[in-house]
Amino acid sequence: MSFSDYKTALVTGASAGMGAAIVERFCKEGLTVHAVARRKDRLQDLAARTGCIPHELDMTDYAGLNELLGNLEVDVLVNNAGLGMVGNLTTLGEDDINNMIDLNLRSVLQSVRVVLPGMIARDRGHIINISSIAGHYNFGGNPVYHATKSAIHMLSQQIRVDVLGKRIRVTEICPGRVETEIFNTNHGVSSGEEAHKKFYEGYEVPSAEHIADTAAFAVNMPSYVNVGLIEIMPTFQVPGGLTTLKTK
Ligand SMILES: NC(=O)c1ccc[n+]([C@@H]2O[C@H](COP(=O)([O-])OP(=O)(O)OC[C@H]3O[C@@H](n4cnc5c(N)ncnc54)[C@H](OP(=O)(O)O)[C@@H]3O)[C@@H](O)[C@H]2O)c1
Repeated sequence: MSFSDYKTALVTGASAGMGAAIVERFCKEGLTVHAVARRKDRLQDLAARTGCIPHELDMTDYAGLNELLGNLEVDVLVNNAGLGMVGNLTTLGEDDINNMIDLNLRSVLQSVRVVLPGMIARDRGHIINISSIAGHYNFGGNPVYHATKSAIHMLSQQIRVDVLGKRIRVTEICPGRVETEIFNTNHGVSSGEEAHKKFYEGYEVPSAEHIADTAAFAVNMPSYVNVGLIEIMPTFQVPGGLTTLKTK
């Protein structure tokens, strides 16, 4: 089942970064692509550039999500919209915690709940979940983000079990640092320019287009090949490390 076997895709978080790059790539591959995000102007620009169908929606508006996704036949669902906030459970506020859980996890569960039955009925579908190395490794101090992404990892595995016997594929793409707009807010900087300086200047990191290429690679495999998990990081980035503190 390569691109030619699919007709439609829906990409969340499509107004920037990886989502926009995936929309662009999938449009080029000939799919009708539904692009979902909150910023209307960005979506309109993307639609003018790529021919995608824009949908202005906050993915944590579950009634809106049900209405939109419930009325579409989606062959390829890309759960990409995500939010990271720096802080641990002693510093994050109640809303910060809820916002990350609502977008990074709850909206993905709800999207799959709405879209999967149609895929099962048509015996055709591909779910691509964008997780993070935060879902696989310990680092920094952001337990909520790590917890949501770890849940996306397990969800990706579990959907595979649930749909065994159907031609439905599930791919988790697990990025390390990628140059997007994710660090523009909530990461101790006040502008995109500052974020660029702090997180990207002097580093060699993958671009959003590399993630789009990765998604396209997984979709383009024949129907009997499921690319389950791809970790993609800068060559000069490694997870790991051990901290041991002396008590005296
Ligand atoms: N960049 C990295 O280094 C990195 C590393 C590992 C994992 N990731 C993951 O990769 C995914 C894509 O992130 P990115 O780096 O491309 O980030 P980005 O450039 O900040 O883009 C995030 C996208 O999500 C959308 N979004 C945010 N809140 C939303 C909401 N409530 N409803 C609908 N859309 C919403 C944003 O659009 P609107 O603001 O217009 O809604 C935007 O299109 C995320 O799941 C992120 O956790 C990123």
